[in-house]
Amino acid sequence: MQLVEPALDRLDSYAAALRQGWSPSNTRDVSGEQLAQIAADAAGFIAQFTTPGGIVTLADGTVVPRLPGPVRWMWDGAFCGSISLRYQPGTEELPSTALGHIGYAVVPWKRRNGYATQALRQILPHARAVGLGWVELTTDADNAPSQRVILANGGVLMARVADGVQPGQDRLVWRIVLPG
Ligand SMILES: CC(C)(COP(=O)(O)OP(=O)(O)OC[C@H]1O[C@@H](n2cnc3c(N)ncnc32)[C@H](O)[C@@H]1OP(=O)(O)O)[C@@H](O)C(=O)NCCC(=O)NCCS
Repeated sequence: MQLVEPALDRLDSYAAALRQGWSPSNTRDVSGEQLAQIAADAAGFIAQFTTPGGIVTLADGTVVPRLPGPVRWMWDGAFCGSISLRYQPGTEELPSTALGHIGYAVVPWKRRNGYATQALRQILPHARAVGLGWVELTTDADNAPSQRVILANGGVLMARVADGVQPGQDRLVWRIVLPG
């Protein structure tokens, strides 16, 4: 598995995952709206990942500016998941609307192959290269697979906090210190 840039010649494989109900967002099912965007303007769809700027719609419908940071696709000859880094230049601080510096999701039929663990390992040097000394990630308290991915990459549990969106749910806040 390697991380690749989103590209038009890989879009069919990405769209096939969306058609099977996979969503790159862990907080909102965006499969339908992304398929509509691809049908309307495939090149524009790819450009939103490869050019800075743009907007993101949050789980509660709020529209906020997209933070800088690469989106990469996990690729093993076909699309198998995505991982994104987001940050504010010059600081580790994140706006309250961002759930962490890094988010990832693997398509269900490619899980348990070590792909998320490898993808996180491969994107950490990008985070270091843009000047981050550490990255913060959050997981649902019951998301053991994602917690194992973070632990395997040197993550340390920093806090357990109430989930602002899902009442009664807790979220775990993790930190990975990046070697200098
Ligand atoms: C979390 C997720 C990204 C893990 O992807 P993955 O490629 O299957 O992860 P890996 O294969 O690298 O496995 C990581 C660890 O979790 C374990 N694991 C994976 N799926 C598991 C499951 N369903 N039950 C128990 N353990 C599981 C693996 O055995 C591995 O443990 P190990 O390191 O001790 O061997 C994937 O399940 C997913 O996309 N889930 C939905 C989206 C999501 O939760 N994203 C993260 C939000 S914080």
